[in-house]
Amino acid sequence: MPGTRLRQATGKTIAAVGAPHAARAGIVRFYDCLTGGASFLDDCVRGLSLPRKSLAPKYFYDEIGSQLFEEICDLPEYYPTRTEMAIMEANAAEIARLIGPDVELIELGSGASVKTRLVIGHARPALYVPIDIAEGQLRSASDALAAHFPWLNICAVRADFARPLRLPSFIGAPVKLKVVYFPGSTIGNFTPAESIALLRGVRDMAGTGARLLIGVDLKKDKRTLEAAYDDAQGVTARFNLNLLARINRELRGDFQLSRFRHKAFYDEDLGRIEMHLESRCAQFAHVAGRRFDFAPGETIHTEISCKYTVEEFQALARRARFEPQRVWTDPDGLFSVHLLIAI
Ligand code: TRP
Repeated sequence: MPGTRLRQATGKTIAAVGAPHAARAGIVRFYDCLTGGASFLDDCVRGLSLPRKSLAPKYFYDEIGSQLFEEICDLPEYYPTRTEMAIMEANAAEIARLIGPDVELIELGSGASVKTRLVIGHARPALYVPIDIAEGQLRSASDALAAHFPWLNICAVRADFARPLRLPSFIGAPVKLKVVYFPGSTIGNFTPAESIALLRGVRDMAGTGARLLIGVDLKKDKRTLEAAYDDAQGVTARFNLNLLARINRELRGDFQLSRFRHKAFYDEDLGRIEMHLESRCAQFAHVAGRRFDFAPGETIHTEISCKYTVEEFQALARRARFEPQRVWTDPDGLFSVHLLIAI
């Protein structure tokens, strides 16, 4: 029932949310599984107390951060989104044929679910399970999809997909196969070791025979890479600095944003972009009453974005027991989309 809050046997509250025009749109069920684990405050205090300060990138995505990320995706310098989209457009029919109909499509870090429309439209899954940490965007993207695909069952799950996750068992759909969709090169935001652990978790959750459809950014020249993470309009800088603004808003922080600068560089040895917030001077700031000191030039590490060759990524996936089935790239070799099978 639209807007009704249900109580499950587990005692967890579920909001069954009707799309705005429930008569024609599909129904979206919303599950909040963001429980356990450290809080934003605990993670901040721990990260800022380290000898090399760091903050976890998942905290970028509050309402403002999610909005800024959508802007990043449209920047001329940020090639991954449009390139991945073009690969998906060019190959959607083949992808749909390879995964087949009536699958359960689980998307990790679904965000605005833009690329997913192509997959859903072509493959016609029985059930779509978007998983994201940003609640507002999860709800609005799910409602938009329900309006666009009235036949589609949607179970939206708010969760941190990097943590062990047991999905509620979804009933009512004749699901043949699980397909995990992980676009956006979000896998690059984890170290290779973390990525293997994450993919092993995905493999265990989805089971043998499940498919993984994953977007992976490719290694390329330093200039192209650095421009993608440090755009001329400064949107990525605003996105990075929003993390401090969010601490100010939510954790009684007093960071002066003008005293930090966005820094992004490609480390060729590690094959990854690193993003930092660099202190412009000697200063201190408080978070929930605690003081943190910064030397001039000291940084808070906020993000990595690992880049792979096709072969490097396939070797990594094999270590998580995923066997490559097919890979698509764009004509310029900027980005790759892999289809793999859990063995
Ligand atoms: N998965 C994206 C990437 O690594 C995330 C991303 C793109 C990003 N641009 C960013 C994260 C800028 C932080 C800042 O490309």
